Amino acid sequence: MGSDSVSTGSGGRDASPDFAADVDIELTALMDNVPILSGSETTVMRYNGSLIAGDASRLVNLPDNYLGPVITVRKGENVRVRLVNSLTEETILHWHGLRVPEHADGHPRLAISPGETYVYEFTVIDPAGTYWFHPHTHGRTGYQAYYGMAGLFVIKDDAEEALGLPSGAYDLPVIIQDRSFTSSNQLSYDTGGGMMGGMAGFFGDRILVNGAVNASLSLEANSYRLRLLNGSNARVYKLAWNDGTAVTVIGTDGGLLPAPLTKEYVTLAPGERIDLFVDLSGRAIGSEIRLVSLSYDGDAFGSNMGGMSGSAPAISIGSEFAVMSVSVERVASSSPATLSASLIPMVGYSLEEASNSSSPRSFSLYMQHGSWTMNGRTFEMDAVADDEIVRFGDTEVWEYINRSGQAVAHPMHMHEARFQVLDREQDGSWRSAYATVSDGFVDGGWKDTALVMPGEKVTVILKFDSYSGLFLNHCHNLEHHDNGMMRNFRIE
Ligand code: C2O
Ligand code: CU
Ligand code: CU
Repeated sequence: MGSDSVSTGSGGRDASPDFAADVDIELTALMDNVPILSGSETTVMRYNGSLIAGDASRLVNLPDNYLGPVITVRKGENVRVRLVNSLTEETILHWHGLRVPEHADGHPRLAISPGETYVYEFTVIDPAGTYWFHPHTHGRTGYQAYYGMAGLFVIKDDAEEALGLPSGAYDLPVIIQDRSFTSSNQLSYDTGGGMMGGMAGFFGDRILVNGAVNASLSLEANSYRLRLLNGSNARVYKLAWNDGTAVTVIGTDGGLLPAPLTKEYVTLAPGERIDLFVDLSGRAIGSEIRLVSLSYDGDAFGSNMGGMSGSAPAISIGSEFAVMSVSVERVASSSPATLSASLIPMVGYSLEEASNSSSPRSFSLYMQHGSWTMNGRTFEMDAVADDEIVRFGDTEVWEYINRSGQAVAHPMHMHEARFQVLDREQDGSWRSAYATVSDGFVDGGWKDTALVMPGEKVTVILKFDSYSGLFLNHCHNLEHHDNGMMRNFRIE
């Protein structure tokens, strides 16, 4: 796990004395050894959390885990997080899905050297929902996230609480990741080196949930809320219950949907979240169901382009496998929460208010000269092209176009602006592959990441009304991200 990074850190950021924090947390990025497989412990990089101010429920460390703590805040609160870099390389942390001031967004130019501290201070303006945090270090995001650096960030608010959804012990994280291990139980992240540049991206041969292999939840015959996060570097999941029970979706990237949605399966790309309502109240004690990833056409996800190492992953892209089992082991110790027919009304953005509805800002996604690009450009630390500047307060239409003929999907994500998906349009070239995943898209709520399939143009609407500054627009396949498929944009 050596690193040849040089000390060019931003120097960090101090706490401001006039910021009155409701929740104050220290997160130390460090190397550690944790038990994952039987036998030797695994060396990981992780976030170790400790609470400086706020009640104990705000920071829950997952025991014996490489994952960071689950941080819980309320909308409207002031949050301070002190990131301490105890690694041997630079790092910086990003709050995925949150609209925060420029200093708090974790842009790679703000990375800190070993020994430095970066203090984030922001007010929570986003609605109740499931968000997360991970590194955003230049060229090292995939590596650092892979070695363990990630955690869940849960926002609560009054509107959500009024709905009486399952909470407390009935509200559980389900962080899904794939990893590969050496025979001595160490993580292997074989990037094949140099220009290989990640064709399909990294695919592991073990599936982990909440940091564990062969994951199983032991639950009551009760109702639950599961907060699913695809924290994998590149793998897309097609999630369903193995016994054919419909999947009940209540929330997506940016909070609760206007109404619950039942689907045969949900498609979850890297970076995306989906909240499920699961009713186990009628199930027999001793029964079990499994969350599985159903098969889909892997060719549309780069299975012919090779994994990072150029060799086929052990769980091939698009094959069916089990994600975790859920066993009903106890009678309900409280009466099951019920699901109301309507959740949180959504007042979205309208095309009429968009400043560019007749000429959307468009981003073509393709590999060129061995790098992943957006409009033929790769990431440059400080550069912002003329067509990457937006006006504060504007509503815009953006389109992501994946029509180069290259057979790989791109989960596109932007910082600082949640969006609605307006339209998906296939050019016909990948229609049958598309049909193997498209029923699982949940486009009806607030999103910050959307999968753009080969042959597809995805049109979104967004508004820049939170903060001005320099932010990022990128592919959340972390190997694509580290190999160029990211650009700055400036809100001014
Ligand atoms: Cu979760 Cu810029 O990313
Ligand atoms: Cu993000
Ligand atoms: Cu991509």
